[in-house]
Amino acid sequence: MCKSCSTTTEAPNWWLTPPAEASCEAGGTELEPSAERPHGWDQALMGFTGELLTAPNGHPERQNGPALVRFADGTGLADWVASLLLRERLLRPERPLGLATGRTMEPIYAALARQVNELSAAQRQELRKRWCSFNLDAYMGLDRTDPRSFSAEMTSRLTAPLGLDPERVHLPDGQAADPHAAAECYAAQLAAAGGIGLQLLGLGLNGHVGFNEPDCEADAPCRCIELSPATRHQNAGAFGGDPDAVPKQAITLGLREILAAKSLLLVVTGAAKAEVLARALQEPPTPELPASWIQLHPRALVVADGAALSELQDPTEKLT
Ligand code: GLP
Repeated sequence: MCKSCSTTTEAPNWWLTPPAEASCEAGGTELEPSAERPHGWDQALMGFTGELLTAPNGHPERQNGPALVRFADGTGLADWVASLLLRERLLRPERPLGLATGRTMEPIYAALARQVNELSAAQRQELRKRWCSFNLDAYMGLDRTDPRSFSAEMTSRLTAPLGLDPERVHLPDGQAADPHAAAECYAAQLAAAGGIGLQLLGLGLNGHVGFNEPDCEADAPCRCIELSPATRHQNAGAFGGDPDAVPKQAITLGLREILAAKSLLLVVTGAAKAEVLARALQEPPTPELPASWIQLHPRALVVADGAALSELQDPTEKLT
């Protein structure tokens, strides 16, 4: 990272302003959108249709909790989140992108594929050359080509549509004979790559992020965990609706690696998650609700639809 990058002070609404370091990264200038042909990602940034909100904060020692962006429609939300991911990868390539799976992410990866398609051939090539991502988690015991594995999900939603080198799309080894050693190895690989830049997060119905199930401390490291009955029930859809068919174990990045990311982007949609989201943002952080630890992060952004924000107390104060 160049000297001027490390001294840059970010505006409070850092997610809307172009990163100042864009012009000083090696090769960064050639990736900036051309005036003749605006691309999907900068169009989405310019055509931002969300609302910026504040919400009551559960952490007594912080005046400002995570910022909130509310979208009325899923398409606007997916386009905008995808544009943030793409911008991060194009303009801040020095740290890996942290990626998530799950139904919430499906329209986001579809939007990302559309936006990458709108880049110039040179930009696409540069993006592929620079790509580096680490997924949050993987089930134990599923072959990486098993369509129910997160590895297969990333192949079909990300690696193949974007034309990426699979070696640059990292996931924990769900077939390792020694899952504990595999988790340590994954953490070491991530550390060697510099740690996460922007971490995309979904939210479990029981408040998990990644597969960090309750009870989970803020410094829990990357590890092999037992999945809770609630999570196996939540994720049964991909397993013929049978919670017993969902693997019992998974490797997940811990809150330690997640909270060490430069920025967090928690995406939540649907009324089913309204209550857990309100608790995660408004109650003091607790191991019982792993997502609540994101209140401690200085650059956390929650992007949600109206249904997911419906249980939040008075989230109507506009920042801009
Ligand atoms: C899953 C994954 C998480 C995901 C979350 C929400 O179990 N481990 O990384 O973000 O739960 O999933 P969904 O978007 O399908 O509700």
